[in-house]
Amino acid sequence: MQLPTDRRWPAWLDLAQGLSGLILVLFMWAHLFAVSSILLGKDAMYGVTKFFEGSLFFDTPQPWLVSLVALTIFLLFALHTILALRKIPQGYRQWRAWTHHMRGMAHTDTTLWLVQVVTGLVLMLFASAHLLELFLHPADIGPHASAARIANGGWVLGLILLFAVEVHGGIGVYRLIVKWGWFGSTDTPRRRQLLRRVVYALVAFLLLLGLTTQLAYLRIGAEAAVQAGERYVPAMEGAH
Ligand code: HEM
Repeated sequence: MQLPTDRRWPAWLDLAQGLSGLILVLFMWAHLFAVSSILLGKDAMYGVTKFFEGSLFFDTPQPWLVSLVALTIFLLFALHTILALRKIPQGYRQWRAWTHHMRGMAHTDTTLWLVQVVTGLVLMLFASAHLLELFLHPADIGPHASAARIANGGWVLGLILLFAVEVHGGIGVYRLIVKWGWFGSTDTPRRRQLLRRVVYALVAFLLLLGLTTQLAYLRIGAEAAVQAGERYVPAMEGAH
């Protein structure tokens, strides 16, 4: 007996995958700017940290808000990953057929899809480690606490995630624009090429910003006070 099937399901799943991806990319870009506030000085990053701990609404820091955001992002990330796994070739035969096609076509967008799969798998393996750390220790974020984490080995995870997330997010946005034909950007091969160049430039900028940010944390992480475990206290608060 044939089970009844709703043929719209694949389209809904595809929509959910695209939408969850878009939300995650927007979050990641905002996140990079928030983290890179350290480039403006310790006070700037301290202010951003307190903002995420609810300083606009509460008199005292509420780190559980950070845990809540981490949990929400994790759930979105899990949904996006599960939906994406449907599309990855399964087993040796499928992979061989796919790479054969890719080489034969020498089509940039098909090659970009492979980059998307590889960076997606890297994120699947490593992003949860970062999210779990912040979920469990939401109060350990700040100019000194974050710098100490990065300087004491956290830079390895930071570098892996930075490259994987910026490349994956950039290509993901490009694919969404092409798929939905936004901005008339895919009407001609010339326009599509232009769009690709804009996305490459954006990814290069985000990588540069991320690397500069990591260097700033590494430099702060080497300070004696940070290594001694001292938390950052802004001059204004210390004066009270
Ligand atoms: C609620 C969710 C998140 C919060 C609160 C958060 C917070 C932070 C903070 C405070 C840092 C600075 C270093 C540290 O303290 O360890 C950082 C760095 C970083 N995070 Fe997240 N993060 C979140 C989610 C994510 C996700 C989902 C990814 C990627 C999959 C990610 C990728 C990175 C990367 C790549 C860096 C290094 C940035 C750089 O190179 O400048 N984060 N994050």
